[in-house]
Amino acid sequence: MLRSLSLVLTAGLLGCSPAPDPADNAPWQTPFPDQYSSWESTDEDTERHDELERRPEMVVLWAGSSFAKDYNTPRGHRYAVSDVTHTLRTGTPPKGDEKGYSASCWTCKTPDAPRMMAELGEQAFAATQFTAQGMEMANTIGCADCHEPGSDALHLARPHAIHAMEKVHLPFDQQTPAMQGAQTCGQCHVTYYFQPEAHNRVNIPWIFGSTADEIERYYDTRRFYEWLHPISRTPMLKARHPDFETWSRSPHAKAGATCIDCHMPKRDNAEGHQYTDHNVGHALDNFDQTCAGCHDSKGALSAALAQNKAAIEAARDEVESLLVKAHYEAKAAWDAGAQWAQMDSPIMDIRHAQWRWDFAVASHGIHAHNPGEGLALLATARQQANMARMKLKLLNEQLGVTDIAYPDLSSKAAAQKAVGMDMARFEEEKAAFIRDEVAPRWPAAAMRGAPH
Ligand code: HEC
Ligand code: HEC
Ligand code: HEC
Ligand code: HEC
Repeated sequence: MLRSLSLVLTAGLLGCSPAPDPADNAPWQTPFPDQYSSWESTDEDTERHDELERRPEMVVLWAGSSFAKDYNTPRGHRYAVSDVTHTLRTGTPPKGDEKGYSASCWTCKTPDAPRMMAELGEQAFAATQFTAQGMEMANTIGCADCHEPGSDALHLARPHAIHAMEKVHLPFDQQTPAMQGAQTCGQCHVTYYFQPEAHNRVNIPWIFGSTADEIERYYDTRRFYEWLHPISRTPMLKARHPDFETWSRSPHAKAGATCIDCHMPKRDNAEGHQYTDHNVGHALDNFDQTCAGCHDSKGALSAALAQNKAAIEAARDEVESLLVKAHYEAKAAWDAGAQWAQMDSPIMDIRHAQWRWDFAVASHGIHAHNPGEGLALLATARQQANMARMKLKLLNEQLGVTDIAYPDLSSKAAAQKAVGMDMARFEEEKAAFIRDEVAPRWPAAAMRGAPH
């Protein structure tokens, strides 16, 4: 609101019409009606699942990080601004000397984020508060995120993504159109971290390459950790949805099938002209337009996917339960007086096991994108978690520990209570913030699909 007012005022003074807002989706509707209306229908998929309810173990694995408060499966792109506003993970405006969350949390939700980076500078934007930028975030993921202003030419709108593709020797302007399409998705569907020495700007940790091993080496050599686990005192890493990374090593990538082939099928409009369906969503719903070009039977494919999914779920169930135990066994050792020198090796095993588990499961689509890599990561994670537990068993025996208390993980609420989280306070503070600040003052996108 404020922004457009000041634009109008400046333009008035200069006696010319206001500069177009580069993030606004509306001007794209008239020249590109089919792409626009299919993009709009990404708000039809409203379904989300509460992953912490489904897997309370994850509350323990993420204890001490905001992921333990709230974590859902994704839904349509048009909800991105609203969902990042409402999640308990992004909290409320900081009080007193609280740190608060970086505006970097907006990076992959809206074309207004790159607009503000261009205006303020990438690091200066990241140095501001998440909540301080809310008034600016009027447009959900849209045309300007993937296309040059006013045109259908593809581009990367985010500096972190341009740098990342160069790190893995895939500079955007030297790629085929198909790879450029995949890279537009790879701006956001990648693993990242907030770089502490650069005001928390988004950085993609691909200096050594984009596998879990290579990224771990990068973090380990920098002694980087995102948070100190309050139960086991492990310096933890967090993976984020590495869809681009795992896809890039898959049989599909080798066969030339990209994100676009499976998630943005071609369709014919009323006049019989072909266009790309911009309702980015569930790939299998469009079997005839997507998979059928290379695969015959929908039944066989669905069965193969279900089988991959079941194998991944079984492997992750086991790793999650091993990691929960390892965190509490480490706590028991600390409580009995263990020293850093004794704990270093087992907690590094916990760090490395949980990193691989997270890399395998954080993308929600590994069973479709690269089940082989997912299962291999989970197998290594299982070995590492078992190694941690063997070392901790010996240590606990030496320290005379006979009894280890494991938590009640019968529900998300039970797990959050067990790790000492005061959820009622987080929820009340967030609700008051939404009621008093977001609903009356922020742009409408912040309330899309939210209970009023
Ligand atoms: C997440 C990235 C992304 C977003 C957001 C996006 N596009 Fe696209 N768009 C693509 C890709 C990738 C292609 C190329 C598809 C191909 O060539 O197979 C494309 C192609 C196009 C084309 C070329 C013709 C066609 O249908 O293939 C037009 C026009 C277009 N988009 C318009 C838009 C408009 C208008 C919006 C906003 C309402 C938009 N796009 C949002 C990624 C995106
Ligand atoms: C600007 C960042 C950004 C870009 C670019 C982007 N995505 Fe997303 N995507 C997101 C976010 C954020 C969500 C989760 C939205 C939510 O849950 O509110 C999401 C959700 C999804 C979903 C789940 C949709 C559903 O209905 O469940 C799929 C599938 C997906 N994206 C695929 C893609 C593909 C394919 C591309 C490239 C054509 C792409 N995305 C480009 C950020 C992005
Ligand atoms: C061979 C086809 C194929 C390719 C290539 C592909 N996907 Fe997927 N993707 C799927 C299938 C199948 C699923 C499982 C759920 C579904 O039916 O959409 C899925 C799931 C997802 C999900 C999770 C959706 C949810 O609601 O949980 C996201 C996000 C996603 N893909 C993004 C991408 C991105 C980004 C790329 C490229 C880097 C990509 N996909 C490449 C087929 C594909
Ligand atoms: C451009 C061609 C192409 C398209 C499009 C394509 N696939 Fe594939 N698919 C392949 C190839 C090639 C393989 C690898 C066969 C092998 O390695 O033996 C494969 C293998 C698979 C496998 C078995 C291997 C695995 O990863 O478990 C599944 C499942 C699969 N595809 C699902 C899908 C789905 C779902 C879609 C549509 C959303 C799709 N594919 C679209 C070419 C394609």
